[in-house]
Amino acid sequence: MGSLLLEMDFESLPMSPRSLAAMTPRSLARRRLFPNVDNKKQKVAPPGDGPRKNLQLEVMEPGLKNDGPSLDTILVNYLDTLTQRVNYHLGYPVNICYDHYATLAPLLQFHLNNCGDPFLQNTVDFHSKDFEVAVLDWFAKLWEIEKDQYWGYVTNGGTEGNLHGILLGRELLPEGILYASKDSHYSVFKAARMYRMDSETINTSVNGEMNYSDLRAKLLQNKDKPAIINVTIGTTFKGAIDDLDVILETLKECGYSQDRFYIHCDAALCGLMTPFINNMISFKKPIGSVTISGHKFLGCPMPCGVQITRKSYINNLSTNVEYIASVDATISGSRNGLTPIFLWYSLSAKGQVGLQKDVKRCLDNAKYLKNRLQQAGISVMLNELSIIVVLERPRDHEFVRRWQLSCVKDMAHVIVMPGITREMLDNFVSELVQQRKQWYRDGKAEAPCVGEDIGAQNCACSYHKIDYISP
Ligand SMILES: Cc1ncc(COP(=O)(O)O)c(C=O)c1O
Repeated sequence: MGSLLLEMDFESLPMSPRSLAAMTPRSLARRRLFPNVDNKKQKVAPPGDGPRKNLQLEVMEPGLKNDGPSLDTILVNYLDTLTQRVNYHLGYPVNICYDHYATLAPLLQFHLNNCGDPFLQNTVDFHSKDFEVAVLDWFAKLWEIEKDQYWGYVTNGGTEGNLHGILLGRELLPEGILYASKDSHYSVFKAARMYRMDSETINTSVNGEMNYSDLRAKLLQNKDKPAIINVTIGTTFKGAIDDLDVILETLKECGYSQDRFYIHCDAALCGLMTPFINNMISFKKPIGSVTISGHKFLGCPMPCGVQITRKSYINNLSTNVEYIASVDATISGSRNGLTPIFLWYSLSAKGQVGLQKDVKRCLDNAKYLKNRLQQAGISVMLNELSIIVVLERPRDHEFVRRWQLSCVKDMAHVIVMPGITREMLDNFVSELVQQRKQWYRDGKAEAPCVGEDIGAQNCACSYHKIDYISP
């Protein structure tokens, strides 16, 4: 443990979780990562391709007799399970293709902590603020704000970015009402509760996009109070994109001048996609902040995110902290110093061209999945410029767990991330088609009607079948 041989140990590892899947615990052990694998007393069940079981672990006391598997055996089996399960990771927005983990693994020898303001050096050297600022500069350029005009930081994820953006809005407009569509991520409503803000939930259309008439009506009702609006660029479940330009126009038409509104853009998944297809996020527009999750489209083994705002706004949050010899305007105290390096490395390795290719491939693959499901007579919806394929909820919980799907009401979704191949999608569709034959075999049960949730034209239930559009 804590071995400085880490670099050597990682050198010979393969470059992706999927190629790691080809390795057995014994071959991993041979590679000296886990030398104490006890093959004889292997009490941990070998992983199948089903959902992973709870390991029922307890912390072991060194030196005491232990009848169970060794620490290394447990870890090797755990690693083996994870590498198997990568091929069934369809329901959540995590890019599992991070080829950099082996190169960057030696960094795990150090505790890197970016506590405080990224633009101010600490008195401790174990930070990565230089990498962090490079990443922030890259995003500032992407979202069209000058270096000397922006402020930002690498967060622990999209949720922290939302908490920060909405807090900025509240500090600028303390009387403001928070407006967020009902398809916004739950962290937005969490922020409203945490900050005890008045809020209005805006209805959405069937595709998950904000209903602008409802926004208008609610803005007019509350005209005496400023507006803090959460705009979602890619909703969590349906991947719908709220139209920032329509929202700005609505504010104007309702008589809200620029000093009476604040806009936070939650672009957790799509913030790294839309710039390459339809550049709607820009600080040239009167927006206050933009946030993304770094582990989503770009990919990072640890959760992380990026938050960018206007420099002129940040003084409202900044406090001098003598203990860290810095100024702090962030949400958390200690901040992960590894994630800025992973983000910097990924962005530098891929570049805008690489990201653009990923976006195109994912959009194509999402359309491919949608068509395959439609051809098989399964209810399905795919928003324009989205990689989230919404389908009828599979009847069997085991199937849902096996493919690690996220479900809401009678819907499930597959998020066609960069690591997802057509082969995985084909396997998913074939298995679903086979299973449906069993579930709906004798006519006692029927596929759910999802007409209200995804639109009648996308619903293949027995009632809507007549209108169902198949390619
Ligand atoms: C639109 C949206 N915002 C915020 C989040 C939260 O991001 P994180 O999980 O990185 O905290 C998500 C997560 O799925 C999301 O879809």
